[in-house]
Amino acid sequence: MPRTGQPQDDTADGWFPESVAAEYDDPGGANAPETIEPVVSVLEELADGGPVLEFAVGTGRIAAPLAERGVPLGGIELSRATAARVADKPGGAAVEVTIGDMTSARVPGEYSLVYLVFNTISNVTTQDGQVDVFVNAAAHLRPGGLFLIEVGLPDLRRLPPGQDTVPFTVAPDRRGGGYVGFDQYDVVSQEFTSNHVTVSPDGVGRFRRIPFRYAWPAEMDLMARIAGMRLAYRWADWDRSPLTADSTKHISVWTKTV
Ligand SMILES: C[S@@+](CC[C@H](N)C(=O)[O-])C[C@H]1O[C@@H](n2cnc3c(N)ncnc32)[C@H](O)[C@@H]1O
Repeated sequence: MPRTGQPQDDTADGWFPESVAAEYDDPGGANAPETIEPVVSVLEELADGGPVLEFAVGTGRIAAPLAERGVPLGGIELSRATAARVADKPGGAAVEVTIGDMTSARVPGEYSLVYLVFNTISNVTTQDGQVDVFVNAAAHLRPGGLFLIEVGLPDLRRLPPGQDTVPFTVAPDRRGGGYVGFDQYDVVSQEFTSNHVTVSPDGVGRFRRIPFRYAWPAEMDLMARIAGMRLAYRWADWDRSPLTADSTKHISVWTKTV
């Protein structure tokens, strides 16, 4: 399966090349103001004046509005195609973006908060790589600084014995096309793929398959411990509601203890 879908895509941009970046900021959903505002408000409070570093800053969906509130902010991002869009947003010109891999890239400075949102820890598909993200976050923090992750919980409770696939969207449209999305899990390796099949009304299909790795919150607590951090907060959502057995994602915050 090629990583890139369009001729202008650069393989160095990984799973977020130009053709994906060009659609990333489409209105609604994750880009809706009512989605972004609570995220930015929690981050602003945790930042305690900053400076703040976003791992996998993307197009600046969260970083730009946070910088617009006056929080000094930098970002690390693998994809040049997404990073190129940060400065175009209100507040984005103040965000200093470093092109690099969050498992290893270092930027100068000592931060009060490092954050990694929108499931992106799962884009690192090995346990070692995910530990490296925690270690790298801690390396950027001042003592007492915070590392925040927002990530979905794997839908394993919807996986009957003998099956490995969980559909999350089946949406035919009235014109004859549609969209089908499903996750496929390997519960041994904790690797999974998100699969997106889009069919246009003339019957032409596009299949996109992206690899991920899930880790339970408890496994992340151990990763944090390896990196010299301890759990400070764990919520089910940005309204800081408690995590329950029915939660679909978690927001966890660890503090650097050494
Ligand atoms: C789902 S987007 C999230 C972007 C942004 N944080 C947001 O909330 O909109 C994932 C981003 O992570 C970037 N990314 C994935 N793996 C990365 C890595 N190892 N180091 C740095 N960036 C990475 C991708 O290039 C992409 O821009």
